Amino acid sequence: MGEENVFLDRCKEIQKIAFSFNNPLIVHHYDADGLSSGAIVISSFVKKGKKYRNECIKKLDDDAIEKYAREKELVFVDLGGGNKRVNELNDVIIIDHHQTDGIEKPQANPMLHGIDGSDELSASGTAYLVFREHPDLAIVGAVGDMQWPLCGMNRIVLAEGETEGEIKTENEISFYGRYCRTLVQFLAYSDSPYIPGISYREEKAEDMLKKLGIPLEHNGKKRTYSDLKKDEKTLLISALAKILVDANQLKKANELIGESHIFPKRPMNETYEANEFSTLLNACGRHSRPDIGLKVCLQDQDAYIEARELLRLHRKMLRNGIEYASSHAFNLGKFYFLDARNVIDEGIIGTICGMALRQKWGVPIIGISSGDKNTIKISSRATKDLISKGLNLGDLMKKSALEFGGVGGGHKIAAGAAIPSERINEFLLFCGEYLTKHD
Ligand code: C5P
Repeated sequence: MGEENVFLDRCKEIQKIAFSFNNPLIVHHYDADGLSSGAIVISSFVKKGKKYRNECIKKLDDDAIEKYAREKELVFVDLGGGNKRVNELNDVIIIDHHQTDGIEKPQANPMLHGIDGSDELSASGTAYLVFREHPDLAIVGAVGDMQWPLCGMNRIVLAEGETEGEIKTENEISFYGRYCRTLVQFLAYSDSPYIPGISYREEKAEDMLKKLGIPLEHNGKKRTYSDLKKDEKTLLISALAKILVDANQLKKANELIGESHIFPKRPMNETYEANEFSTLLNACGRHSRPDIGLKVCLQDQDAYIEARELLRLHRKMLRNGIEYASSHAFNLGKFYFLDARNVIDEGIIGTICGMALRQKWGVPIIGISSGDKNTIKISSRATKDLISKGLNLGDLMKKSALEFGGVGGGHKIAAGAAIPSERINEFLLFCGEYLTKHD
């Protein structure tokens, strides 16, 4: 039997144990993948008519482990696989996709079966394979965890979702916000690929649209990219491609078009397209309202209205954060360093690092922010190119945090940690040495 089949059998076993629990506490992570995977598990319990309680956390640290010691039954989702202390707890199952080692509790984790959880399957994809519910949320989680374009087992989930009519895949401009951003914002604040002279320059984006003769409004309402007629879309894409070709960036021009996943059964708002949905969820989770994100996943209309407000706030904070990063990220040789203590909220420092990271740097970025209880929150991000050369930020964060009395981990491409504030200088030195050794 192939590794994939062994993993799928494992998923079935985990479902069986989950539904044998009487009233478990479902504990999930607070980012887009954590919320989508949490929602898959919760809605499966609801559908089955099973009792449960749920809680969303930022990290599974020692305090959390001690708190959960009293629980009889626990379901960890998008976390748990990285902390051996779960072995001390009562009945536990784990649905995770992070690097894992020494866990004795039953776990559905692609990493245990030679399937790369940082690229080929997210926690929500794993939760889908356990419960066979909500393939759309599985794709939202994958995209939220930067597993895009989808590959590996994510494509199996995608194919099932397409067959069920829950997901449709389009080949479209790869910019963010086709369905809900105004045209100017759509052009100005999408940087994959980065368009010289347009990205992060609203007035230039507006000029470009005007010169192309593309009206910004229709019947007094601002238009989105999805409102454009076919010939307008072609005009815009050709103009963007020309800028990239003129700047000698042929490879980037090819990246202009890519796969995008939409959800025909959901309303045509931010929950209609995977990328936009995942940002909406991040806005909820990272601004301390994961409960709203969960409800949005489960199609609660009132929660959606609240989520939109959080998204507005999230975007404003991201804009301010990226502006700060553009003048405060410094090249320390082995990595770019962004000291955003007391400036950028710990909930969004990771997202800002991801947005600030530039391919041409050839090194990762490490950002720091003020955390709770005299800790420092650390976030690191790398390019796909660096990962393909062997960089593993999850390993770096895990080892360095352990060394300095903190907790850390994550994926090769995106990882984080929290350490006591006074250890930050040693921590950064350790990172420099690690990156030199693994160069
Ligand atoms: O917080 P941030 O967005 O930087 O996290 C990136 C990744 O690192 C996430 O997958 C998260 O689960 C992981 N992480 C972790 N331990 C931490 C902080 C982040 O495993 N203390």
